[in-house]
Amino acid sequence: MLGICYYPEHWPEEMWANDVKEMCELGLKYVRIAEFAWSKMEPREGQYDFAWLDRAIDVIASAGLKVIMCTPTATPPKWLIDKYPDILPVDVNTGTVRGFGSRRHYDFSSENYFNEAMRITEVLAKRYGEHPAICGWQTDNEIACHDTTHSGSENAKVAFQAWCERYYGDIDSLNKAWGTIFWSMEYQDFSQIELPILAVTETHPSHNLAYRRFSSDQVIRFHDEMIRIIRAHAPDRFVTHNFIPMVDTQTDNYALAKNLDFVSYDNYPLGRTDLFFEHMSPEEFKPYMRTGHPDFSSYSFDQTRGVSKKNFWIMEQQPGPVNWGHHNPRPENGMVRLWSWQAFAHGAEVVCYFRWRQAPFAQEQMHAGVKRNDNSKSQAWYEIEQVRDELASANIDTSAPVKTRVAIVTGTINQWVTEIERQGDSYNHQQVEFTYYTALRQLGLTVDFVSTDCDISTYDLLVAPCLPIVEQGFIDKCKAAKAHVVFGPRSGGKTSELSLASQLPPGNIQQLIPLKIHSTETIRPDCSELMSFNDRQYDSKLWREEIVFPETVMTIAKYHDGRPAVARFENTTYIASLTCENFLVDYFEVVAAELGLDVVKLPKDVRIVDRGSVVFVFNYGHQEQRFTAPQEANFVIGSEVLAPFDVAVYKR
Ligand code: GLA
Repeated sequence: MLGICYYPEHWPEEMWANDVKEMCELGLKYVRIAEFAWSKMEPREGQYDFAWLDRAIDVIASAGLKVIMCTPTATPPKWLIDKYPDILPVDVNTGTVRGFGSRRHYDFSSENYFNEAMRITEVLAKRYGEHPAICGWQTDNEIACHDTTHSGSENAKVAFQAWCERYYGDIDSLNKAWGTIFWSMEYQDFSQIELPILAVTETHPSHNLAYRRFSSDQVIRFHDEMIRIIRAHAPDRFVTHNFIPMVDTQTDNYALAKNLDFVSYDNYPLGRTDLFFEHMSPEEFKPYMRTGHPDFSSYSFDQTRGVSKKNFWIMEQQPGPVNWGHHNPRPENGMVRLWSWQAFAHGAEVVCYFRWRQAPFAQEQMHAGVKRNDNSKSQAWYEIEQVRDELASANIDTSAPVKTRVAIVTGTINQWVTEIERQGDSYNHQQVEFTYYTALRQLGLTVDFVSTDCDISTYDLLVAPCLPIVEQGFIDKCKAAKAHVVFGPRSGGKTSELSLASQLPPGNIQQLIPLKIHSTETIRPDCSELMSFNDRQYDSKLWREEIVFPETVMTIAKYHDGRPAVARFENTTYIASLTCENFLVDYFEVVAAELGLDVVKLPKDVRIVDRGSVVFVFNYGHQEQRFTAPQEANFVIGSEVLAPFDVAVYKR
């Protein structure tokens, strides 16, 4: 259940045998290789050198380890760029070409690159597809990372025009769908359509949404073709991809995951916490500096499980300081172990660490490995040893499905709408969604993520923090579902072309709860106001809607001026304000009680994942914590007393 990312090409061949021997000692089973090794596989056009890779695979296989082979397409070599300069993407903010010298320097709309990427994939897949040591494949590496989904190139423009023609059929339909009569933007021909970049002021939202749909489709086209080629030559091998956080892909993650066997995730709790919580006050942030926020990795794990509707792998886990955060602290001792167990608890079947040994050269020389560059063992080594031993003694079936009665309804398109239509600078889709998520987790609830086209019939509570475009199909499913559905502000207000719903927001949601939004305002972060719920006061901030409804609808919470802030009709609730975490915790506690969901009020920084037959408890805090387990609890790891950064697991 453990693995490692390994770069044999970085190290003298004499070291490989001992590396592999030590990997076995550490209890590792999987070795991921080759994702950046194109220039070594094909140093010149058509001149392949696979002898070194054959030997590396042999050494790994001789120790009984399994190989995960990657396509090297995240790093097209220099000779290829020189041959086809149009591979390089164009920065959508400046219009300048993004150069060679790092990675992911390719444009999804370059046909030259498409062909070259598929060529090297096919060469590799033919050569290694049936190799007995190779158990599976990883496509590319972190697709879309470094903001590479969008390109402002001529190739992208031409492909976008063709995409628009396919999507809208004729130019009048496009004009009508977008509303191009506004500001004299009417088109007579698809060939006139530019990319919505580098304009004087804001570009047309419908145009923008179409560009995002198109760019996402380009990524999926590229990725799906790669999967197809691998499958054609690698029978009975899995194909996966290592995802970055879902918000960063700018791609429809559900579509991206569709043809994979399962999804993998790259888990960098400290680097991500540093980027995501930069607006947190120092008092709040500092305790998490070396642990990561207790819910942040889980948020990604649960989303990862959601996109392929099954358990997942961690393909990379941070073993020490990284190099790419604004600041790069080291993990507290114990966190590498805790993060590993956290991943298993949320549905990981395998955890691989990035990387075996810290390379002394190039961009990531300050990024830790399990071993230091002098080959000594870092702190991570000892924690992985502990995980190895605990896995052996605890005997937990990580392939068991994660079952829950609560789901957050999500989808990349919601994020796109909020990014395209700013309205208030402080609205951040991910922050909004995360606030709902952390509230549910603080109550000990396990959370699934579903898209609007998923089956929702098994859930008791569905929470849609922000769902601006709601198709009729989802409304119909809500009508048929048994769940209580809670919508956050900004939901339902837009058509699929990002125009205002003609019946006023929340559009189609009015079929579930008869209320209308008469006005929407956004508010500075330092000007929050109060709202009240069950005689307690909470913050209403950033986004506030005025809701109007008939007497049949119940007011659940009120703004400071007495107007309704949260309303409910039968099984549907609409929250019209961006509130605070405290409100959401207290509110969901009441809802959960009504729905008969088991809620545990956990000490701050303690989290629980209840998987029925096995329960995981984590202490992210700097203090010892105690909890009370049920009488029948049989502890397989730890006890009811959790040291700082400690883990307990019991079976029922
Ligand atoms: C990503 C990449 C790796 C490496 C790590 C460093 O996850 O996939 O190649 O750059 O980041 O943290």
